[in-house]
Amino acid sequence: MEVIIQPSASAAADLVAWIIAGQLRAHPRSVLGLATGSTMGGVYSRLVDMHVEEGLDFSGCRTFNLDEYVGLPGEHPNSYRHYMNQHLFNKVNIDLRNTHLPNGMAKDLAAECEKYERLIEQAGGIDLQLLGIGRSGHIGFNEPLSSFNSRTRVESLVPATIEQNLQFFEGIEQMPRQAITMGVGTILECRRCVLLATGRDKAEMVARAVEGPLTSMVPASALQMHSASTVVLDAAAGSQLKGAQHYHWQFENDAKWKAFRGAASVDARG
Ligand code: GLP
Repeated sequence: MEVIIQPSASAAADLVAWIIAGQLRAHPRSVLGLATGSTMGGVYSRLVDMHVEEGLDFSGCRTFNLDEYVGLPGEHPNSYRHYMNQHLFNKVNIDLRNTHLPNGMAKDLAAECEKYERLIEQAGGIDLQLLGIGRSGHIGFNEPLSSFNSRTRVESLVPATIEQNLQFFEGIEQMPRQAITMGVGTILECRRCVLLATGRDKAEMVARAVEGPLTSMVPASALQMHSASTVVLDAAAGSQLKGAQHYHWQFENDAKWKAFRGAASVDARG
């Protein structure tokens, strides 16, 4: 696992967008795993800018989102399909037929989950999976006690998640209590994982996920077992990490990040 602490939420989003753009440029037919949530807004708006200003090409890629609420149709403003269309898909040159989210309206939810796993497999697996972290420590909607071997399935949301995501709904009655989510095991099979977290309210969970013991009580801690996972944070989300100095040293000295460090310092100078 590598941990990168950027000075601000905007710099952290820049880095994540830079990683995704690099993946797309190197492999235009990449299979991207995508995530939703307010944290991802900055990443998608930068990718849209790169598409408009630099011609970043999405025409060859395929995407699979982590999760979707059970009971919300794609047209519902709070569905993750709607979020993705609004923030990214409708603003870049991606073929909507190549974009996948679980169908939370499926009559047979178990069959839908199996189908989603099969689709990912048929696409050749996910090259790069973007992730956020919930206040419960979830990745996707894998709540505490999710097995590290879990596959795509229906998960019941815990109170901390309901409380966190309630702000997007008109009231508690409108908020779904279940979601379809890729499993922790599904996520660990992706070739590369990039988790983005910003803000002080994520700091404690980030510290438990990155520096705490591997435990299904903190599903994001499973990323410690992934051989190519990068955790990108702003200073607030990284504020409870004990190893911050070590992470900074690694980032500053790793040749892989040289081009980004150069671009970021040019931006800062204006
Ligand atoms: C939802 C999604 C998660 C996401 C989390 C973080 O619960 N299922 O995949 O990581 O939100 O949300 P935010 O970025 O709004 O803090």
